[in-house]
Amino acid sequence: MAEASYTPRVFSGIQPSGNLHLGNYLGALKRFVDMQESDAQTIYCMVDLHAITVWQEPEKLRHATRELCAGFIAAGLDAKKSILFNQSQVAEHAQLAWIFNCVARMGWMKRMTQFKDKAGKNAENASLGLFGYPALMAADILVYHATHVPVGEDQKQHLELTRDIAMKFNHDYGVDFFPITEPVIEGAATRVMSLRDGSKKMSKSDPSDLSRINLTDDADTIAKKIRKAKTDPEPLPSEIDGLEARPEARNLVNIYAALADMSVEAVMADVGGRAFSEFKPMLADLAVAKLAPISDEMARLMRDVGEIDRILSQGADKARAIAAPILSQTYEIVGMVGAGVR
Ligand code: TRP
Repeated sequence: MAEASYTPRVFSGIQPSGNLHLGNYLGALKRFVDMQESDAQTIYCMVDLHAITVWQEPEKLRHATRELCAGFIAAGLDAKKSILFNQSQVAEHAQLAWIFNCVARMGWMKRMTQFKDKAGKNAENASLGLFGYPALMAADILVYHATHVPVGEDQKQHLELTRDIAMKFNHDYGVDFFPITEPVIEGAATRVMSLRDGSKKMSKSDPSDLSRINLTDDADTIAKKIRKAKTDPEPLPSEIDGLEARPEARNLVNIYAALADMSVEAVMADVGGRAFSEFKPMLADLAVAKLAPISDEMARLMRDVGEIDRILSQGADKARAIAAPILSQTYEIVGMVGAGVR
C-alpha cells in the first residue's frame, strides 16, 4: 500500500482538574495558543474522561472543565482558529480507545511509570480506567490522525506508547492507516518550577499556596508571591552559565523570559548582576501586567456559563466531523459489520 500522507494536525489534551496556575499557562495554554498561528490545524481537548480515572466530585469536575475553557480563551485561544472541546462530548474517543485496549499489550501498560506513580502502593485498588489511561490518550490523538502533540516531558512515555499502538495496529491489519505521531516536548524555558523549591515542578497539589501563582490570583497576591519567592543571597549572575547551580534564580529568570516572550540570553543581558531586591519588583510588574488581564477575563467568562457551554458544544461538533470518518474506517479495517454506512 502507498505511504499515506497526513495533513499537519496538532492535538493536545489537558485534564480539567482545577487550580490552573502559571505552569499550566506557560507550559500549555500559551504554547498552544502560539501554535494556532502555524500552518497546522490545532485541536485542544479538555480530557474529562481521563480526569475520572481518579475520583472527581461531579460539581467540581463540571466547574473545572468550564474554568479550563475560560482559561484557554482568556489566554488567547480563538475558537475560529482552533477546535476547543471537552472529550466526553465526542464519543469517538472512547470508541477508539476500546479498539486500542485490544491492540495494546498488558506488558506495555504495566511499564507505564505514570500508572505506577499514580496508583502508588495500593495498585490493586486503582481503577481499571487508570490502568487503561494511556490507551485512551492514544485514541485522543489518533482519532484525528494528529501528527504533532505538544506535551510536557512527563508525557513522553505515553507518546511512545501511542506510536507503538499505531505501529502494531498498522502491522496487524496490514494497513498504513494511523500516523506515527511526533511529540513536541516543552523546553526548559516553559517548565515552571515551584516558587518555594526550584527543583520541583509548580503544582496544583503543593500544600503551600505560595509555591504557585494561580491564574485566579489578583494583582496583589501575584506581587506578594513573587516577593516571597525563595532565592539565594547572591545577586543574579552576569552570565547564563552562572544560573546552572541556582535553580530558584534560574526559575525566576525563565518565568521572566517566557512572560516577556524574550530569550533567556536577552533577559540576562538586561538583568544580569542585579540584586533580587531589584529584579523581583520587575518580575512582579511583568507578571501582573500579563496575568491580571487573563484572570479578569476568566472571571468575566465564568459569569456566562451558557456562552462557555456553547463554545464547547460547537467545538465538539467540529471535532466529531473529523473523528467520525476515521473511526468508521477503523471499524471497517477491523471487520465490524455496518461500519461503512455510519
Ligand atoms: N495525559 C496528559 C497529561 O496528563 C493529558 C492528555 C490526555 C493528553 N490526552 C492527551 C495530552 C492527548 C496530549 C494528547 O498531561
